Amino acid sequence: MNLKGRDYLTLLDFTKEEIEHVLNLSLQLKKEPREILKNKTLIMLFQKPSTRTRISFEVAMTQLGGHAIYMDFVTSQLSRGESLSDTAKVLSRYGDVIMARLYRHEDIELIAKSSEVPVINGLTDLYHPCQTTGDLLTVLEKKGKIDGLTIAFVGDCGFNMANSTMIGFSKMGANVRLVAPEDPVYLPKPEILEKAKKQAKGKIEIFHDPVEGVKGVDIIYTDVWVSMGQEEEKEKRLKDLKPFQVNSELVSHASPDVIVMHCLPAHRGQEITSNVMDGPHSVIWDQAENRLHAQKGILAAIVGGL
Ligand code: CP
Ligand code: NVA
Repeated sequence: MNLKGRDYLTLLDFTKEEIEHVLNLSLQLKKEPREILKNKTLIMLFQKPSTRTRISFEVAMTQLGGHAIYMDFVTSQLSRGESLSDTAKVLSRYGDVIMARLYRHEDIELIAKSSEVPVINGLTDLYHPCQTTGDLLTVLEKKGKIDGLTIAFVGDCGFNMANSTMIGFSKMGANVRLVAPEDPVYLPKPEILEKAKKQAKGKIEIFHDPVEGVKGVDIIYTDVWVSMGQEEEKEKRLKDLKPFQVNSELVSHASPDVIVMHCLPAHRGQEITSNVMDGPHSVIWDQAENRLHAQKGILAAIVGGL
């Protein structure tokens, strides 16, 4: 298998076997990082804030013997109107790989089109494939498999994390339950649901009753109720999503050995309670660590050609 030169924009573009290859590399490089990207440079472009994605990519490059450079929209010429495509053309003459975190998914597609080097999606409004890669790695480690498990994504199922979780987990053979209010803003766009279903090996189902949705599941996953860019909708979202809080009562309806996941950052007391986050079912901190190892797997595959 050779993924060298491929963009990593959405898991829709990768087969089950290709994702397994990235996960295997991640596991190997977690055990023993090797300097396979010596003298290689990752350029990281941010339009939105980040803690985990920025730092785990930078540390991943260090562990692989390379280097990472941070740039953002505010302090670069992008703030003065230089176009994204011109920026991407230039950056790809310097770096060996570009990672970008943006609002519009079309913009990362534009960067990929303009760039001569592979482009990684560090989150757009539509997808967060690197997070899901780390999440698949975490489930593999905690449960020994992904195929045949049932994961309930609880809360806002209409944005990047729900889309990528649905696509990645169902492709790997897990059954995915989207547990959300009936309002279509909290559900995946029909065209994304359709694409995910076409590629799915497991079932994809929608539930509007939180207790029914998590009944017997192996994994409960949640994400913030107000994502980056949705600040103006805060009041409505907090009200609509309140019944979908992941608390110990809700967790008690899942399988006794359920694991609870959250991509972070969390808003304790909103989508998840502190006692669940810090409780015995939570794998959230190992999940956050695995961002680092998954980034190494992704970089090894698309830059290193491993
Ligand atoms: N989960 C995640 O992507 O975190 P950051 O927003 O901190 O990068
Ligand atoms: N849905 C969240 C994910 C953060 C990692 C957001 O887009 O803000």
